[in-house]
Amino acid sequence: MTSAAGLGARRTGSRRAPLLLAAGLCLLAGLDAALLLLGLPAPVAGDRLPQVHGVLLVLGFAGTLVALERAVALGGRWPYLAPAGLGAGGLLLFTPVDLSVARLLLVAGATVLVALYLRFWRRQPSAALLAQAAGAVSALGAALLWLGGLDVPRMLPWLVAFLVLTIAGERLELARVGLLAPGAPRAEQTFLACVGAVVTGVVTTLMWPAAGTLLLGASLLALVAWLVTYDVARRLLRSTGLPRFTAACLLAGYAWLGLAGTLWLVAGPVADGTRYDAVVHSVFLGFVMSMIMAHAPVILPAVLRRPLPYHPGMAGAAWLLHLSLALRVVVGDLRDVRGAWQLGGVLNIAAVLLFLLTAATASVTATRRASAAARTPSRPGPAGTGSSPDASPGSSSGSAPGSSPDASAGASSASDDPRSAR
Ligand code: HEM
Repeated sequence: MTSAAGLGARRTGSRRAPLLLAAGLCLLAGLDAALLLLGLPAPVAGDRLPQVHGVLLVLGFAGTLVALERAVALGGRWPYLAPAGLGAGGLLLFTPVDLSVARLLLVAGATVLVALYLRFWRRQPSAALLAQAAGAVSALGAALLWLGGLDVPRMLPWLVAFLVLTIAGERLELARVGLLAPGAPRAEQTFLACVGAVVTGVVTTLMWPAAGTLLLGASLLALVAWLVTYDVARRLLRSTGLPRFTAACLLAGYAWLGLAGTLWLVAGPVADGTRYDAVVHSVFLGFVMSMIMAHAPVILPAVLRRPLPYHPGMAGAAWLLHLSLALRVVVGDLRDVRGAWQLGGVLNIAAVLLFLLTAATASVTATRRASAAARTPSRPGPAGTGSSPDASPGSSSGSAPGSSPDASAGASSASDDPRSAR
């Protein structure tokens, strides 16, 4: 790519940056609220923060990320209203502005997200898209229920379904290779049956909480079994660098989702206390945060048009996340040891911050190196010089240290769909 085109790509990335910043601020405010919920001092001690922690992180942070990635993939201007609505709604949650304004914005953002999937559907219907669209409808359901005054524990299944179905749909797209294997002709139908069962379970919890929770727990377990069987993750575990990191995060995430499904299946509906904390964070930290870590080195370069090379510090953060979550959930929650719950919670926050810091440093360093390399007159050299030893299909979105950001932008400009890089 010419440097002029590269500059254009970086400008495109910069225009998207405010939306990513909104997601980042929601994350930081959510982590601050988490400290307050743990009964510990926090940098900012707003009264409203603990009350909005869950929605802020699920719809404000993760919702904005999901919607931004989808808007980039679809192209055009109106799809950006989805991350804008969710991001603005999330930001208003921790300001003194009336809560109903924030709730309305979240509803608006989720509505555009559903519309976005309808547009994708008209382009090319698929089982993977159906799962993601069901996820978006769950996000809209959650936002509407919250607007209507339902409390978070009652609408938790809707929040869970939003992110679980979105991520499962994305994984199905990548499992296609596995689906072509002999003996797996019914895999896609089985996947859709799992998605249908999750949706039915979620809706049922509103009218019959006990029966709905049972169905939801069982269907999450079935979905985990499907993912473990067909996802490419198990094969990638034997590789090195980014593919191995991604695979380990995916498999650990599936294990946590399995635990959440088991707890719901065995213990039924829970609305507070240690079991509640265990279910909630097995899903949102063990599964969702692990998935975000796994996909960040591929999705962020495509969205921001900046390189994000894999760095071993990312694996360190992921290890810290999973070990501290085990301390929090297995010892703190399930054995009711308050000190372990608090320590685990603080280390969860440290793990997320460590990942953010590592990713930001790796991206800035790679961008600087690449700019310096671009200014140096080119000289002939052996092919592949300067690329990462971890270079892999997954890291091909310009994330190799020393690769040009123009190259990275070029990788993502061939198709603006971040998933085309995975
Ligand atoms: C990073 C460390 C985190 C810590 C230390 C933390 C801590 C907490 C605590 C102490 C509670 C209250 C639990 C209870 O009422 O029994 C809570 C609730 C919750 N958390 Fe987190 N959390 C973290 C991250 C997250 C993330 C990343 C998400 C979502 C993506 C999330 C979603 C929720 C939800 C949905 C609730 C329920 C809120 C409610 O009932 O109002 N948490 N969290």
